[in-house]
Amino acid sequence: MKILIKNGSVVTPLGTSLANVLIDGETIAAVIAPGDTTLGSEIEHSVDRVIDATNKYVIPGGIDSHTHMELPFGGTFASDTFETGTRAAAWGGTTTIIDFAVQKYGERVQDGLATWHGKAAGNCHIDYSFHQIIGGVDDDSLKAMDELVNEGITSFKLFMAYPGVFYSDDGQILRAMQTAVNNGSMIMMHAENGIAIDVLVAQALAEGKTDPKYHSLTRPWETEAEATNRAIMLARMTGAPLYIVHMSAKQAVNVLQGAKDEGWNVFGETCPQYLYLSLEDHLSQPGFEGAKWVCSTPLRSKEEGHQQELWRYLRTNDLSIISTDHCPFCFKEQKELGVGDFSKIPNGIGSVEHRMDLIYQGVVDGQISLERWVELCSTTPARMFGLYPQKGALAPGSDADVVIYNPAGRTEIGLNKTHHMNMDHSAWEGTVIDGHVDTVISRGKVVVENNEYHGAKGHGKFLKRGLSQYLT
Ligand code: URP
Ligand code: ZN
Ligand code: ZN
Repeated sequence: MKILIKNGSVVTPLGTSLANVLIDGETIAAVIAPGDTTLGSEIEHSVDRVIDATNKYVIPGGIDSHTHMELPFGGTFASDTFETGTRAAAWGGTTTIIDFAVQKYGERVQDGLATWHGKAAGNCHIDYSFHQIIGGVDDDSLKAMDELVNEGITSFKLFMAYPGVFYSDDGQILRAMQTAVNNGSMIMMHAENGIAIDVLVAQALAEGKTDPKYHSLTRPWETEAEATNRAIMLARMTGAPLYIVHMSAKQAVNVLQGAKDEGWNVFGETCPQYLYLSLEDHLSQPGFEGAKWVCSTPLRSKEEGHQQELWRYLRTNDLSIISTDHCPFCFKEQKELGVGDFSKIPNGIGSVEHRMDLIYQGVVDGQISLERWVELCSTTPARMFGLYPQKGALAPGSDADVVIYNPAGRTEIGLNKTHHMNMDHSAWEGTVIDGHVDTVISRGKVVVENNEYHGAKGHGKFLKRGLSQYLT
């Protein structure tokens, strides 16, 4: 199948220009400037389909490098399967996800990874890869890290939070970082001081403070900034690269910025929820409603002014990537596990479908440029996690993952509007975006067009990743 996308404005991190994009099979064959006649004007007649993208943006498909399909967590499982979650992602212009395979404490890392391959294989609508969560750092798991790098799993997540679940102590972190230095992989860190948080949580519950808002109040910004600083210091001791996930506190990013300015290989991501949602407007809603917005790191206080600072850090590249940390739980029976005890509310928000739209709104609002939108949501994730230029680029030879985005469109987000995630509510209910995902192409196959879905389970393939381009 040959497809010509005609007259669109092709957006890459380097600029925006009118061009035609030729897709041949699963890859991009050419990006043709309007006056370029070397390929012949008959090209239009030699293709199977012409898609007119006049007045629309043509961008590389979104890459969400932080999702949790079917994650066992908080006594339940994240409610999207690889099938439902990747389908929802496709609807929203994301054509690749990198999910987190889990090594549970006491389990072999290889077995944890095999479980994740089993969950995903044959079920995904778009291409996918995995990071590996190391739930128990010991001699065996450190050896396994080397093995996994050869299998295309080149990034490992550790947790300074969740004692008794995924938590690693400083010595374990140090050892994993030393291993990463030797095998060239990236350490990803959930940077929150989980030991201090557990004390604050116990004290709050003892005082009868059980509502969802206490989830944030017992995880103050200091717990994120302290852990961020400690993670960076451990990385400096070992020389390991470090990528801090889901950053929400401006003070934590300030610490990261300091280390970056000194030339250390440290990177940060944030997520749409930290740019738009807050303790006051969402987590503090009456009754148990706020449970919809329980995630970690937590939504922070508007009054503390984190959101504007996060947008600024996105402009200055102190934050390099926007992922979703998609970890959906239904309100009924899942979030409700925490009625009367906020610490039992499963942590996570579902956004995989909305990231491209939500961050495009940042372009409309003047927070970031069009080019930066593409860089944060597609190109940098590909470079950071060893997928570039197969993904994250509109260039000859790259996979034909393409989104045609209509800036004159409109998207209403909500359960009965655009929502295809397997959730009984939306954390984004009522949000309106001044733009719309028009057409989505995944490896040469049109999967979304005219608000209709044409994708299929099993189309998505596992991606073996290389090493991060930011480390070589
Ligand atoms: O609330 C969150 N973030 N849930 C998913 C697990 C994690 O820490 O990323
Ligand atoms: Zn985390
Ligand atoms: Zn996560």
